[in-house]
Amino acid sequence: MGKRGSLVFLLLLQILCFLLFPQPLQSQGNSFSRPPAAKLILTQNERSDSDPEQVHISLAGKDHVRVSWITEDKHVKSEVEYGTEAGKYSAKATGEHTRYQYFFYRSGTIHHVKIGPLRPSTTYFYRCGGSGPEFSFKTPPAELPVEFVVVGDLGQTEWTRSTLEHAESKDYDVFLLPGDLSYADTQQPLWDSFGRLVEPSASRRPWMVTEGNHEIETIPILFPERFKAYNARWLMPYAESHSSSNLYYSFEVASTHVIMLGSYTDFDSASDQYKWLQSDLTRIDRLTTPWVIVLLHAPWYNTNEAHQGEGESMRKAMEELLYKARVDLVFAGHVHAYERFTRIYDNKADSCGPMYVTVGDGGNREGLALKFKDPGSPLSVFREASFGHGRLRIVNETHAHWAWHRNNDTNAVVADQVWISSMSSFKACWDDTSSAARYEL
Ligand SMILES: *[C@@H]1O[C@H](CO)[C@@H](O)[C@H](O)[C@H]1NC(C)=O
Ligand SMILES: *[C@@H]1O[C@H](CO)[C@@H](O)[C@H](O)[C@H]1NC(C)=O
Ligand SMILES: [Fe+2]
Repeated sequence: MGKRGSLVFLLLLQILCFLLFPQPLQSQGNSFSRPPAAKLILTQNERSDSDPEQVHISLAGKDHVRVSWITEDKHVKSEVEYGTEAGKYSAKATGEHTRYQYFFYRSGTIHHVKIGPLRPSTTYFYRCGGSGPEFSFKTPPAELPVEFVVVGDLGQTEWTRSTLEHAESKDYDVFLLPGDLSYADTQQPLWDSFGRLVEPSASRRPWMVTEGNHEIETIPILFPERFKAYNARWLMPYAESHSSSNLYYSFEVASTHVIMLGSYTDFDSASDQYKWLQSDLTRIDRLTTPWVIVLLHAPWYNTNEAHQGEGESMRKAMEELLYKARVDLVFAGHVHAYERFTRIYDNKADSCGPMYVTVGDGGNREGLALKFKDPGSPLSVFREASFGHGRLRIVNETHAHWAWHRNNDTNAVVADQVWISSMSSFKACWDDTSSAARYEL
């Protein structure tokens, strides 16, 4: 890993591709002006080859957590020791490992080990592969309240660091990332660097991610396989949620059903993703999970000049399913700004539709999407092109608080906030026709 030679080769390859294929490889947006992006932070592995690096955890089905990490040494066992007391590991689990190749780049050994059953709201100490530092995490609560941090388009710049610091400055339960993680953009060592940058946060709270366009990483003709690095490194609980692809899945945490959709895989009504979403929605029990939230990358509603219309075909294909299921909230990334909409269905304000929020402002190297359309839209309630992060605190069955924190120099400032009532408590949206429609899905 981190081989200078392969990096240089890839750079040359990319230059060649840009010359051969004038369409940019990664950014699929319109042109818009952006301020200079902050400096990249490139982290090095300072541990030994058998020690874990890039440790991160994710929820993996009821009462289970998946621990993922990478070692240079390929003989390290995919084994996690854990327990509720520091230094004392009362349990042990074994898992699987993989490696991948991207031209001359060879990844380290990527380990994934599922541990559990675990108790809710409990701190566990763990060690990966029998060596290296001890890590710890806290499991989410079984009951409300629960708090999510929501931030997309993270990248690995000085802004990313400041966003993460602000997010970490107050406790939360689960980190949600609606796509565009490392901005490696085919330069594989940047995935490793990203993994190290986020480890302090991603090893102590579950990080649940879905893919963005920067995860695709294909090069026309030369490297057609999509999501190679993303799927190997960021394994999400798709099998645990009856999905056949790591690109879309769902999970439940404290009365909340969270659906992660894929903007860059098929979503038309004949697709696997569509059929999976249909059946996932019918499996939701609003009595046990009154809250339903959805994350995806390319926003369905967007008044920024950047990426106009890119989420439109997915919206046309899937919006009705989400509407009939009375989804509470839809979060997106992709546009490097913050925008909050009212409740919408089919381009009209609709009190039974989801509230839409774009939080593509984590701090990546491309900078901000500064230009909003003028005039805006009456559906758009608040919009601002600044880096920051969001926090969704689900207080009880009927109320949740959403706050967007703008990154200020040294602190985070709440710039937008709103109380949200759950759809499940809103009787008018569950009359005979709509609930009948829901079960017909
Ligand atoms: C839910 O939380 C809201 C906001 O704190 C509060 O006003 C409301 O009374 C709570 N409802 C119940 C049933 O506790
Ligand atoms: C933003 O940061 C500056 C510089 O650190 C500080 O002076 C200012 O008070 C901060 N603003 C808010 C609203 O916290
Ligand atoms: Fe994106």
